[in-house]
Amino acid sequence: MQPILENPFPAVEAAVTAMRQETSVIFVDAHGETPARKIAIGRFLDGKASAVIGTHTHVQTADEQIFPGGTAFLCDAGMCGPANSILGRAVEPIVNRSFRICRRCSGGEGSGAVVRRRGFRSMKRLGAP
Ligand SMILES: [Fe+2]
Repeated sequence: MQPILENPFPAVEAAVTAMRQETSVIFVDAHGETPARKIAIGRFLDGKASAVIGTHTHVQTADEQIFPGGTAFLCDAGMCGPANSILGRAVEPIVNRSFRICRRCSGGEGSGAVVRRRGFRSMKRLGAP
């Protein structure tokens, strides 16, 4: 049986409005998979929350900003966990599992990655070649 889910927008608005009666500092953890949804929650709460910080993907984004209404935003804060890992898990079992899954798949050709300048500097700082 699927749970009945509530629309998060009016739910978070009600929660923030209630919290505003008790504090002027409101930090919202926007836990979700899609950046667009987290950005939408951030924009929706602009001027209502102090900060909206996304979580879940385990990889920190570099899109920190202050929205026009004064709300601080970051799409994903990344993770706390072992650096020598895959999202906190031991490397070898995850690589082996992914390898087995990928052998069953076919897909496009070529490869590519976008590394923003800021990310490149961070990687250099970590000792990447
Ligand atoms: Fe999660």
